[in-house]
Order: sequence, then C-alpha cells, then structure tokens
Amino acid sequence: MNLKAETIAEIERVIPLYPQKRSALMPLIHAVQADLGYVSDEAMDWIAAKLGIEPVNVLEVVTFYPYFRRKPFGKHHIRVCRTLSCALNGSFNILDVFREEFGCEAGENGLDDLVTFEFGECLAACHNGPVVLVDEVLHEKVDEAKAREIARAIKAEHTSVTK
Ligand code: FES
Repeated sequence: MNLKAETIAEIERVIPLYPQKRSALMPLIHAVQADLGYVSDEAMDWIAAKLGIEPVNVLEVVTFYPYFRRKPFGKHHIRVCRTLSCALNGSFNILDVFREEFGCEAGENGLDDLVTFEFGECLAACHNGPVVLVDEVLHEKVDEAKAREIARAIKAEHTSVTK
C-alpha cells in the first residue's frame, strides 16, 4: 500500500503509546484516511495486519463512524448539518438544492468527481442553522439562494475545467 513516509512514521510513533496494539485502531484509521483520502479494503487489511487483528474489526469501526470514508470524495466536500436545530430550520431543503444543482444523490460524486455532498451531524453553530460546511469553510444561516450560490460557484469551476 502506498502511504507517505510521514504517515508510516506517525503510525510507528502512535502504536507503542497504547498498552495493547489494537487500541491504536482509531488513530491508524485517521492517519490512513488523512493520507489516502479514504479507507480502502486494502488499507483495512493493512491496518489489521499491523495491529494483529482481523480486517472485520477494522471494517466495524470504519462503518460505525460517518467520518470515515470507504471511497474517495470529490475535490470539494459539502456537509449539510441535519441535527435537530438545523433540520428544523430547513437543512433537508438545502440538501435537495444540492441534489438538484449537481444532478446526483447525497454521497455520490458529482460533476466528474468535483463534488460530494452529504448530511453530517452537528457542526457546533446550532443557533445559526442551517449550517453547511464546504471544505473547511463554515456557512451559517444557509437558505436556498445561498445554497444555489455555493453550488453554482462549484459548477463554474467545473465549466472552466471542461472548456
Ligand atoms: S444542529 Fe446544526 S450545527 Fe448544531
């Protein structure tokens, strides 16, 4: 598996910090995802071998936490908060806007792998919902118009790339 030298070094540093190797499972998954962008089947096998556990033990953790990804995202990642405060303020409508603008479903890659949008849980700005995280930028009080503006900026990038 092709991990960067820094990732391998981090993994080798972290494992001895735990009394039992298997307890380093979460940090290893984080490190691998940070490096590869997702956690592939091959990566899960590799982590399991590294920690002396079964691949299914890795799979259980990867599939339990929504943060972990089993396939690569598009270049831009949009996360729409669906926790109560944002849901009451219309976050499901916001997701519908992205579905319509990008012509794909949540969790799929759209516009030739340029974007992936999905629901996420509370982004800690509940008083200003609906809240949408676009890459590392938090957008608050997102209404339909703002969601279309976000989508159209990404679509413009797609247009300029495919010209
Ligand atoms: S409920 Fe959406 S940010 Fe907390």
